[in-house]
Amino acid sequence: MTVATRTPDVAHKNLKALPAMGETLLEVNKLQKFFPIRGGLLSRVVANVQAVDRVTFKLKRGEVVGVVGESGSGKTVMGRTILRLLEPTGGEVIFNGTDITKLSKNDLRDYRREMQVIFQDPFASLNPRMTVSEIIGEALQIHNLHPGKGRVDRIAELLTKVGLRPENMGRYPHEFSGGQRQRIGIARALAVDPAFIVADEPTSALDVSIQAQVVNLLQDLQEELGLTVLFIAHDLAVVEYICDRIIVMYLGKIMEIAPSRELNRNPKHPYTEALLSAAPIPDPSIKRQRIILEGDIPSPINPPSGCVFRTRCRYAIAECAQVEPELREVSPGHFKACIRDDIL
Ligand SMILES: Nc1ncnc2c1ncn2[C@@H]1O[C@H](COP(=O)(O)OP(=O)(O)OP(=O)(O)O)[C@@H](O)[C@H]1O
Ligand code: SF4
Ligand SMILES: [Mg+2]
Repeated sequence: MTVATRTPDVAHKNLKALPAMGETLLEVNKLQKFFPIRGGLLSRVVANVQAVDRVTFKLKRGEVVGVVGESGSGKTVMGRTILRLLEPTGGEVIFNGTDITKLSKNDLRDYRREMQVIFQDPFASLNPRMTVSEIIGEALQIHNLHPGKGRVDRIAELLTKVGLRPENMGRYPHEFSGGQRQRIGIARALAVDPAFIVADEPTSALDVSIQAQVVNLLQDLQEELGLTVLFIAHDLAVVEYICDRIIVMYLGKIMEIAPSRELNRNPKHPYTEALLSAAPIPDPSIKRQRIILEGDIPSPINPPSGCVFRTRCRYAIAECAQVEPELREVSPGHFKACIRDDIL
């Protein structure tokens, strides 16, 4: 049972009350992020890297949704564009009823409080010249939270929450292990009491032996604080373990969305089938044939026509080159972007 324990405070005053648990918190509509490639003497746009293309989905408050896909499929760019750490090329990001892609920088600042990120690399994402207390204090300072003596108490409280000793707040990031550094990154993200977190492969830079500890910490905090989390990961087993639903991405587009267990047991998209066939199976009752995906992901500068997966799909037919498959619901809560219903 998820319990939301947000303390209302002065700085939340500019923001609407959050929806009830289980109601829609975030709507991503046809979100696009292209990176222009310039060339020639006039430095004109000659092509675009189509990193994220018309991605649409909703997140309910309190939900943990995983995002998987091979390297280069657009997971990080999507996460960052949702938070407007990257400016979208098109589409909408509606957070609690407000399209944040239209907000001025000033108004966006209030929303930044609600939407935080945990980065993949706790080595690169923490300023080596700042102490832990300064790193977490900076987040509080930006939003004018817990001023005066209360700030040290808040930092101590946050460190305790993530399993670090408050007396170490005067230390620098290099004095901590990788796992501890990621705990600092988590404390920094939680400092402003956000409703929504993008966790971008938060454990993949860590030793295998401590990955589970950090995943368990995130899971405990998510439950305690009623957080809504978009959890980007390579590891399908981790994602199935902690996520309610999973989004499968390929070449900047969503291929399939389904509840975690359903996606793992009953994949409906050929790309998901291939990804799962390559992952170790924790449940011996599931038997899978290993499917080798031939070739690399095509270039996002010039993606294949029709279905972007068709150049590697073992079920591709001539029609797949002509029509771009819509993401459509094939059973309650289970969506796929594939024109064929006679497979899988
Ligand atoms: N700043 C940028 N300029 C141009 N292209 C970019 C930029 N950032 C990302 N890309 C491209 O966008 C595509 C999606 O990249 P992204 O980092 O989102 O992939 P990913 O799914 O997160 O991969 P990984 O699993 O390796 O983290 C890639 O082709 C990448 O090269
Ligand atoms: S639309 Fe065609 S190419 Fe694309 S996944 Fe389905 S069968 Fe494969
Ligand atoms: Mg990434």
